[in-house]
Amino acid sequence: MSDHRTALARLTLNAAFSIGDVQPRLYGSFVEHLGRCVYNGLYEPGHPTADKAGLRQDVLALIRELGVTTVRYPGGNFVSGYRWEDSVGPREDRPVRLDPAWRSIETNQFGLGEFIDFCRKTDIEPMMAVNLGTRGVEDAVRLLEYANHPGGTELSDQRTGHGAKEPFGIKMWCLGNEMDGPWQIGHKTAEEYGRLAAETARAMRMIQPDLELVACGSSGSDIATFGAWEATVLEEAYDQVDYVSLHTYYEEVDGDRDSFLASAVDMEHFIESVVATCDHVGARLKTDKRIDLSFDEWNVWYQKRPNPHPVEDWREAPRLLEDNYSVTDAVVFGSLIIALLRHADRVTAASLAQLVNVIAPIMTEPGGSAWRQTTFFPFAQAARHGRGRVLRVEADSPTHTTAKYGEVPLLHATAVSDDDTGAVTLFAVNRSQNRPLPLEIDLHGVDAHSLTEHLVLADADPDTRNTLDQPERITPRAATGTTITSGVLRTELAPLSWNMIRLARRP
Ligand code: AHR
Repeated sequence: MSDHRTALARLTLNAAFSIGDVQPRLYGSFVEHLGRCVYNGLYEPGHPTADKAGLRQDVLALIRELGVTTVRYPGGNFVSGYRWEDSVGPREDRPVRLDPAWRSIETNQFGLGEFIDFCRKTDIEPMMAVNLGTRGVEDAVRLLEYANHPGGTELSDQRTGHGAKEPFGIKMWCLGNEMDGPWQIGHKTAEEYGRLAAETARAMRMIQPDLELVACGSSGSDIATFGAWEATVLEEAYDQVDYVSLHTYYEEVDGDRDSFLASAVDMEHFIESVVATCDHVGARLKTDKRIDLSFDEWNVWYQKRPNPHPVEDWREAPRLLEDNYSVTDAVVFGSLIIALLRHADRVTAASLAQLVNVIAPIMTEPGGSAWRQTTFFPFAQAARHGRGRVLRVEADSPTHTTAKYGEVPLLHATAVSDDDTGAVTLFAVNRSQNRPLPLEIDLHGVDAHSLTEHLVLADADPDTRNTLDQPERITPRAATGTTITSGVLRTELAPLSWNMIRLARRP
């Protein structure tokens, strides 16, 4: 920590300058057949709150509170060995199989129809991935026919026979998952994948032209093929797809918390690099068509830490990737949301990976309770209040030096204007571990001059977490001392904090 130029951070809000509208799909999430995300997570027949379909109502209530708009399914690495037909039809006839991706047993008791039922009960848009690892074009069009065709064909009639008269109406489809990753079943070169993605997309659109299709981008900006992968894939598939995907996970390494707190610097650079690549390929192809970004896996994930619940291979629903998030993690997580919002013109879909138990904002105990991790709160607040038009906000902030990203501003912020009500919501993070950050916001360019609330997520001990025994140890609390005088808001952001400041038109 060093080189503070000035102690005060300043922002100007002006409704005339905006980045773009927040698309509802920005607040998506992800359910993979991995660990206890599905089994003993969402789905636990016999749980006291389970409905007839085995869906836990306590979990569904938290998902509604979280405000998730879309859910990507069924993977993830799982999808690259997925046989969708194993997961439909009478449950007693469904095969039990090995899931090589996570070395687990897959019982197929929760499948495609159950996923759609879950989406309908939670008013969530399904986002389906097809298997381009062990499978290809034919399987993708068969799945599409089963899911979306109204009836009168073998596969659509099969769906009706399975009790689902209404087509599933799945609009957004991912063409495989992380096909650039050597760990992926059926991993491919960019040329191989680009051709396959283009051909799969072409065939799927022959059945349903209005689909929205996502080509796999890179699994992270640190992977060796990043940049070249996107360019090659898009040279093949530009005309056939609508989005390219991005995935990234951050963790604190070797106690370097300042760098961890600046993770969004990397995320914003990643986004801007992919936008540049998409537009470069578009220019080469002399097309007006614009490719948008689907940031369909993002989160904090402690990949380098050993699993606190060691499990043997080939178990049903093992405890995998059950990270327990601290206040620090939630502040970084909030900063990642700010990064997405600051690029809302091009990031028009995103999926928090994942939803329940697996690197998740919601945790459950089999037969027991469901509770909110620290990361639940920034997501829920943004999904609820971060709706409308993202304003172009340039902060004048003191900086400090980090080992990984050099000099970074202590303030990371964005603001969203709801033009119908005139309300403006500011999301802001103070990256300093030990200094409060005084902040002045010039409000002369917006109508919202009345403070509705200032909520803060912070703690004297930033390693504090919610747990099964203390599920509400950390919740957002009202900040004190925020004032508005003559069109200037003055406040102080607590050290290492996530903040939501809501402003309304003066009554
Ligand atoms: O979200 C966990 C895993 O991370 C997903 O299965 C995979 O796509 C990514 O590597």
